Amino acid sequence: MEPRAAVRIVVALGVLVLAGCTAGSVGVRGEPGAAGVRDPYFPRLGNGGYDVQHYDLALDYDPATGRLDGTAEITARATQDLSAFHLDLHGLTVESATVDGRRAAANRAGDELTVRPRQDIEDGSRFRTVIRYSGFPRPVTDSDDAHEGWLRSPSGALAVGEPSGSMAWFPGSHHPSDKATYDIAVTVPKGVQAVSNGERAGERTVGGRTTHSWHSAEPMASYLAILAVGDLRVTTSRTPSGLPVVTAVDPKAAKASADLLGELPDYVDWCARHFGPYPFASAGAIVVPSERIGYALETQTRPVFPLDQFDGTTLVHELAHQWFGNSVSPESWRDIWLNESFATYAEWMWREDFEDVPVEDSFEAAYEDDENWAFPPAEPPGPDDLFASPVYGRGAMVLHQVREAVGDDAFFRIVRGWAAEHRHGNASTDDFTAYAEERSGKDLSEVWDVWLYGDGRPETP
Ligand code: TRP
Ligand code: ZN
Repeated sequence: MEPRAAVRIVVALGVLVLAGCTAGSVGVRGEPGAAGVRDPYFPRLGNGGYDVQHYDLALDYDPATGRLDGTAEITARATQDLSAFHLDLHGLTVESATVDGRRAAANRAGDELTVRPRQDIEDGSRFRTVIRYSGFPRPVTDSDDAHEGWLRSPSGALAVGEPSGSMAWFPGSHHPSDKATYDIAVTVPKGVQAVSNGERAGERTVGGRTTHSWHSAEPMASYLAILAVGDLRVTTSRTPSGLPVVTAVDPKAAKASADLLGELPDYVDWCARHFGPYPFASAGAIVVPSERIGYALETQTRPVFPLDQFDGTTLVHELAHQWFGNSVSPESWRDIWLNESFATYAEWMWREDFEDVPVEDSFEAAYEDDENWAFPPAEPPGPDDLFASPVYGRGAMVLHQVREAVGDDAFFRIVRGWAAEHRHGNASTDDFTAYAEERSGKDLSEVWDVWLYGDGRPETP
């Protein structure tokens, strides 16, 4: 080898060693995290390579113009060596990004934000990302035409997120498999209310603007985050067992909703008797005029209702979701029937207890309804079908078939045990079928084959 070539090789090696040293303190060489978690219906929701532990959101909103200024501080743990990672964000402008206090590159492509930290992040380590962003948050229109995301109202806004709307107001890992705790602080003009999930953590007015702070200590899937800004009457009370209750009502809906809101603590207690201990540190409800939103939603601790759907069965439905969907969350959107079947079955149980309609009659009515037979509940054909009748009505029929097969005692052991076993976690359809069989000691494959996965309406059993 010529001396000149040898020098060149030594120099090249030196450059390689130096490059290795800048790639993280222990010299990790990461790869980019995936843009999604391969959900069968929403492949780009959520992100690969890390797990969010906590969101600390500081938002400043001007109801007059609709402008939002936000800082999202996201604490996460890497699940691989990372050279870059994604966040989901819809619209809005990213002003800056830092990772562990150091400036990071941030690039947008559609609803994906890619953050490239100065140093690679080592598998297993905790890291803190701060995104500053601003702009005019927009609604997200699902392929089923339901409106979610950021919905403006005359005096403020309502932010709702099932299944993908939360990316309209904060960057994150917006798939239910990545649950995290939350601090949400919202600054609005004095006199305007801002209500979110969990417990109030402060209310401070400085220079004509008030910061409303809310804390969620239990893990939450991001689609369950709620923010209601505007002219709202906010009331704080407690259930007989001492659970704090926060309700927020638009003045236009206040009179018509007052009686049922007063009964909310009894509804929570009724659910707890059937499903086990209430999973969160507070409860409540938000009631808005009917034109504001077309559906009720089980947002964590504080479900939201359009006034024309604020009735006993819908209230019990959204409260039942606190156990089934919110505490025990779906592993993927394919498991949505696990949410809606239990919530619908809770309606059937409630009608039996309070309206003298036996559960069997509700089952019969669902069986006769042609709409429930469009597809098997465990296999919605596409994202437009996640909230279609079979997921609700036929899903509840699956549960009733389990009850018929195992008897009442074993059935309620399964219901309460399921809520306890996966409390604050995630679970799939396979987890449920295995659990029901294990807990009852019965082979339930016929129930699954016919009612959960089968095509079309079976003969009446
Ligand atoms: N999950 C809600 C409930 O049943 C309903 C819901 C959420 C919905 N998003 C939707 C219904 C979109 C129709 C379209 O409590
Ligand atoms: Zn529901």
